[in-house]
Amino acid sequence: MTRDDIEAALAIEQAVQPYPWTRGNFGDALGSGYLGLVSEASAEAGGGLQGFVVLMPGVGEAELLNIAVAAGQQRKGVGRALLESALALSRERGWGRVFLEVRTGNLPAIALYRSAGFAEIGIRRGYYHNAAGSEDALIMACELSAGESNG
Ligand SMILES: CC(C)(COP(=O)(O)OP(=O)(O)OC[C@H]1O[C@@H](n2cnc3c(N)ncnc32)[C@H](O)[C@@H]1OP(=O)(O)O)[C@@H](O)C(=O)NCCC(=O)NCCS
Repeated sequence: MTRDDIEAALAIEQAVQPYPWTRGNFGDALGSGYLGLVSEASAEAGGGLQGFVVLMPGVGEAELLNIAVAAGQQRKGVGRALLESALALSRERGWGRVFLEVRTGNLPAIALYRSAGFAEIGIRRGYYHNAAGSEDALIMACELSAGESNG
């Protein structure tokens, strides 16, 4: 992901996330050296951004901060491919694991993470705001080892 992708990523984000990142959040992420990967439609399909994933490098590990796929492109394997690319990149960088936080009500995302090898390692009570007041965050991690393929 480069700064040229921000507008398209923001449009996807605003369409599919209940509490979307702002343009500033994307700019700050890229400015801070976070890694963004994008999925683009083929030229035959008209091109354009289909989805993205953002990773924050840490010490020996990375946190997956955001992943989203355009509404019209969901359930076609784009999210899984983005997640697997993020895991492959993390393995290349020598990180031992990737972790993330996800709303306990986000069943599509939780199913995707489980299918890619993530397991639940904790819960943060009342971590997110939602219409009902607050929602728990599930903490999930995918342990990586060089050369191994998850999912
Ligand atoms: C989560 C998200 C990225 C998945 O992207 P996607 O491209 O639709 O996912 P895929 O087609 O690669 O699906 C991979 C697996 O995820 C699970 N999954 C995806 N969408 C699902 C849904 N609506 N219901 C149940 N499981 C779902 C399934 O296990 C699926 O495998 P299958 O199709 O073989 O059953 C997408 O739904 C999205 O952008 N959601 C809004 C943003 C979001 O919630 N991001 C995560 C929190 S930051």
